[in-house]
Amino acid sequence: METIQIQGETASSRILIGESLRNLVDYVPQNRCVIITDANVRNYYQRQFPPFPVIEIGMGEKIKTLDTVQSIYEQLMDYELDRSSFLVGIGGGIVCDITGYVASTYLRGIGFGYVATSLLAQVDASVGGKTGVNYRGFKNMIGTFNQPQFVICDLGLLQTLPEDERWCGFAEIIKHAAIADPDLFAFLESNVDKALELDREAIEKLVSDSIKIKARIVNEDEKEKGERRKLNFGHTFGHALQKVAGVNHGAGVSAGMVIASEFSVKTGLFDKPSHERLRSLIAKYKLPLEVSAKNEDLLEAIRMDKKRQDLNIQFVFLKAIGQAVVQKMGLDELNKLMRKEL
Ligand SMILES: NC(=O)c1ccc[n+]([C@@H]2O[C@H](COP(=O)([O-])OP(=O)(O)OC[C@H]3O[C@@H](n4cnc5c(N)ncnc54)[C@H](O)[C@@H]3O)[C@@H](O)[C@H]2O)c1
Repeated sequence: METIQIQGETASSRILIGESLRNLVDYVPQNRCVIITDANVRNYYQRQFPPFPVIEIGMGEKIKTLDTVQSIYEQLMDYELDRSSFLVGIGGGIVCDITGYVASTYLRGIGFGYVATSLLAQVDASVGGKTGVNYRGFKNMIGTFNQPQFVICDLGLLQTLPEDERWCGFAEIIKHAAIADPDLFAFLESNVDKALELDREAIEKLVSDSIKIKARIVNEDEKEKGERRKLNFGHTFGHALQKVAGVNHGAGVSAGMVIASEFSVKTGLFDKPSHERLRSLIAKYKLPLEVSAKNEDLLEAIRMDKKRQDLNIQFVFLKAIGQAVVQKMGLDELNKLMRKEL
């Protein structure tokens, strides 16, 4: 087992790679605990859960709302949870984001931890302390920065993850490699089959390297004032495509990375062969290179993006494979880039 530490402003978090869900009870403080999970994860793994009450939430982005949060608050009150209580989210990114938000706000904050069960949750959503829910159809509009006490990444749980959900995780691993690690990028290129088959050694390296990249960035800039913005590579258009075209996170982010990479070439920051390398890697991991949507709908979704400052957005460009740069850009400039041929 490997442990990676995140040091937040107010709390620290231990990410345990290769630990087992069966040992969860060892990490939970000796007071009252409630588990939050979804129906899929519960069906597969409830037998491995410690004997704590379980709150089951629905599935899909549509349930990542304040209504779900409210229904959890009500159940926590029925269980008479007090401030010494603890919550554990066992699930993918949606369960983790909601559990973290509920734990951050219930009784002004109680302790919490995650067992990340999807690849996306292991390499991204469970790491770094962003919690939140969608509001009025916009992604993660309401949320907190708050570190879980621990994150268990049980690699064995990935075996039951549906194939299209695995691809979502690979999109974020490719993102981490593209912005920060040329060696990881090369490893992804030369180990496609092993990675897609979830070969234990390959997947352990991919999860571990990804978490190290994210942990390094979060340790430097927990509240996303600078360096952490690089983790949004592909996400400006990714979130807009999710909203406008209704695709999942992985598809949105991969097509979003292709757009951001194209813009990097158009602005002269990134060379075309490297852009083609990124496109080819994304395609090898069976992720979409484009998602069809109208430019004006995308711009409107981006205009509403929570990262917008006045009429500007912080856009993440690539300078090289493994090197990203964040630049402030006006929406009019973005519009021009969208229309300009490569
Ligand atoms: N907080 C952050 O920093 C951050 C970062 C990236 C993404 N996110 C959020 O993460 C969410 C997406 O997460 P996700 O892709 O994990 O989606 P998800 O939580 O919807 O999980 C995907 C599906 O896989 C199922 N599943 C999960 N683990 C399983 C397992 N081991 N076996 C079988 N089925 C399993 C779930 O039931 C669900 O149906 C988005 O809402 C996104 O905004 C948050």
